[in-house]
Amino acid sequence: MSGSSTAAASSSGFAPTAAISKEQAEAIYSRGLEGIIAGETAVCSIEQGGLWYRGYEIHDLANSATFEEVAFLLLEGHKPSAAELARFKSEIVAERPLHPSVTAFIESVGGFLASGRAVPMDVLRTAISMLGHTDPDAQDNSAQANLRKSKRLLAKIPTVIGHMQNVIDGRAIIGREHGGDKSLGHAANLLYLMTGRQPSAEYARVVDVSLILYAEHDFNASTFTSRVIAGTLSDLHGAVAGGIAALKGPLHGGANEMAMEMLKEIMRDVGEKGIGTPAVEQWMHKAFETKRKLMGFGHRVYKNGDHRAPILHALGRTIAATDTQNPGGHHALRWFELGEQVQKIMLDRKNIHPNVDFPCGMTYFTMGIPVPQYTPIFVASRITGWAAHVMEQHANNRIIRPLSRYTGEPPRKW
Ligand code: CMC
Repeated sequence: MSGSSTAAASSSGFAPTAAISKEQAEAIYSRGLEGIIAGETAVCSIEQGGLWYRGYEIHDLANSATFEEVAFLLLEGHKPSAAELARFKSEIVAERPLHPSVTAFIESVGGFLASGRAVPMDVLRTAISMLGHTDPDAQDNSAQANLRKSKRLLAKIPTVIGHMQNVIDGRAIIGREHGGDKSLGHAANLLYLMTGRQPSAEYARVVDVSLILYAEHDFNASTFTSRVIAGTLSDLHGAVAGGIAALKGPLHGGANEMAMEMLKEIMRDVGEKGIGTPAVEQWMHKAFETKRKLMGFGHRVYKNGDHRAPILHALGRTIAATDTQNPGGHHALRWFELGEQVQKIMLDRKNIHPNVDFPCGMTYFTMGIPVPQYTPIFVASRITGWAAHVMEQHANNRIIRPLSRYTGEPPRKW
């Protein structure tokens, strides 16, 4: 209806002055914005051939960096020196405790969390909003204030996750005063806050690597959401709360929980003895027939495989195979055996590869991490990417306001 809307605009005295004509916009329309460049970033680059955080390739980071170093890289913009890293770590440790009102809120919804009526992702989203109310910089969008707020959120999100797990499990809150154990790094402290037990170095490293892999991924749905919010010159806490809501969906970060739920469903249906047999193929065939989406598979950008998936798969499989102390015991490996069969069928039949959420589900499950916390743990990492993008947006802002293709009624009289 471009002609009639132009007529309406002229008759009301507004001449159309768009820099891009309606015809040009129509020519670049793409459903779901597939293949559209919607902005610029120096934070991350992703393509089928690789994934780089500020120029550092993901295998290099997973092998040689710690999550704290990657967090510094994303938030402060460069690889930290030893002194900078020490300063950063102590800032984060100091910011771990929650304001008592936020802890009280988590305790107040403990019954809903325990019954499953409230899910940790939603409680975390509300907790982030509450953290905004208690943050002295909440309404300040300057670069310095945004960096301070980003570090506070990075520090406090594991504490929120731990406190939620404590109320779900009915144990006393761990780390109410200090936000955990000051001697522990970020990943180890997250596990400690959730369980009250210091994890082995191996467990802490696996979670650390998963946080590195999850930290940043350019204009994915949740980061784009955060940038849209920041682009109106709204604040960081609001942008992060919006990012959490977007990440929760099963087509995005929620897939790590759903991938594990799907494997449990297959295991229930085919039984342990069915692994490696045609029973799994039959299950998959039925899923294909009903056009069911298999969670943890596929990706908008990586059509030939997600670079992060094999890294996490190898780490998780090693834990499952070698660590008989893991909560799944020696049976934990069966989840990887089942997962590998599912992956092979998916590749053979559909040519669709697993994304990072598939091995994440099996890995966290092997380690005994409760499934509803998988996506909140994703948040504990992605906060760094979101915050880096919000700061980048605020530093060079133009409101993000695309067009739509109108498919409704033609103009008519009321
Ligand atoms: N299971 C079954 N079929 C699939 C899947 C899947 N997981 N993924 C894609 N396809 C099919 C899809 O049905 C379509 O087939 P057809 O052309 O016959 O309609 C074809 O492959 C192309 O897929 P698409 O829907 O155009 O892909 P998209 O780029 O729009 O969506 C996606 C990408 C990730 C949302 C989608 O692959 C999906 O829903 N995957 C399952 C959820 C998931 O694992 N999400 C995690 C994403 S990666 C990390 C993260 O963000 O956390």
